[in-house]
Amino acid sequence: MKNLENKNILIGVTGGIAAYKVVEVASRLKKLGANVKVVMTKSATEFVSPRTFQEITKNAVYVEMFGDAANFNVAHISLADFADLVLVAPATANFLAKSAHGIADDLLTTTILAATAPKIFVPSMNTNMLENPATQDNIKILKQRGIKILEPADGELACGIVGKGRLPEPENICAEIVKFFSTEKILSGKKILVTAGGTLEPIDPVRYIGNRSSGKMGFEIAKAAENFGAEVILIAANTHLELPKNLKFVKVESAVEMREKVLSEFVSVDAVIMSAAVADYRVKNVSSQKIKKSEENLTLELVKNPDILKELGKLKTKQILVGFAAETENLFEYAEKKLAEKNLNFIVANNVSVEGAGFGVDTNIASIISRGGEVENFPLMSKAELAEKIIFKLIEILQGEKS
Ligand code: CTP
Repeated sequence: MKNLENKNILIGVTGGIAAYKVVEVASRLKKLGANVKVVMTKSATEFVSPRTFQEITKNAVYVEMFGDAANFNVAHISLADFADLVLVAPATANFLAKSAHGIADDLLTTTILAATAPKIFVPSMNTNMLENPATQDNIKILKQRGIKILEPADGELACGIVGKGRLPEPENICAEIVKFFSTEKILSGKKILVTAGGTLEPIDPVRYIGNRSSGKMGFEIAKAAENFGAEVILIAANTHLELPKNLKFVKVESAVEMREKVLSEFVSVDAVIMSAAVADYRVKNVSSQKIKKSEENLTLELVKNPDILKELGKLKTKQILVGFAAETENLFEYAEKKLAEKNLNFIVANNVSVEGAGFGVDTNIASIISRGGEVENFPLMSKAELAEKIIFKLIEILQGEKS
């Protein structure tokens, strides 16, 4: 089957020794039915001749920013518009640095800035260059902007050392591209409700009880669901993050308010992902005036908040329900208990006491526990990557239901 029929793929080739392997990537993509165009940096042409790519892709290969003035057609714009997907392989440290900082000093970097299509970069370089904090920071910036970075492989490098930095094998790069197109817009027609942030429970007009949730995880989930074509409603409590585009945003403060908004959307949605940190208790008698200090001790009486997810678990008909379990001990035991008690399809469990996981940071270390006890453990990854894993799991369940 030609999985990539009618897909326009722009390959950027930068100056790394692995450039020769990308000839095979281009060839495989062609065989899968894609229309492939190639932009090379000048250094890349030191490793592979543009003519090789031209023969393979049956398209002109672009290197020069300013070619023949008589045929000037603003190549960087037409190439950017052409692409359904931009693949840069190998992506050198220099290219990653320029791209992370918006530098556009050749045809490839200029085209990348102009292209709105999704992008996959495949770094390949010497291990020390890869592990250099400058390169790692640049990779982090690019990931945060939604660019997919394929992990370099381990093995013997051209420089003679053995380590991480090899370009993954062409078949693996192509498999990622096929996966990208097969899941693209796969959620179109589906409506997904995501909650994010941490609720604030008022004490008086100026004070509240709150928690440390920033809302980052929920925002990344909302973005990932939207990228896969879903109609997304994001109900967020007390977040200060840049609003993702193309979704319905509902701002709330307290758990009671969040419950009300969630319930009003629930019947029409296909899935709910409750990533919000909902306060378990609220102040029983909220003072209408600012509380003045008087006694040595002040006692606030707290009452239990509604458990929104548990309520949804009882009400659910067709909806897929996903919860979070942020724990500091007995992670799996507590998470499995929540999964069952709240009638969820799966739960994302993380130990918030581990460095790199939990509140405020851009990364997370989590496990997905499904009904039936299946557990997927993920290593430290960005919240954007974890969001994608969560959405993949959701897609799996939605597709299972269809068949
Ligand atoms: N949740 C909810 N309503 C609440 C509390 C939590 O919908 N009042 C949701 C959260 O969004 C999350 C999951 O339930 O998806 C977390 O489960 P929960 O048992 O409430 O976790 P904790 O609040 O951490 O509970 P505990 O203190 O018992 O660990």
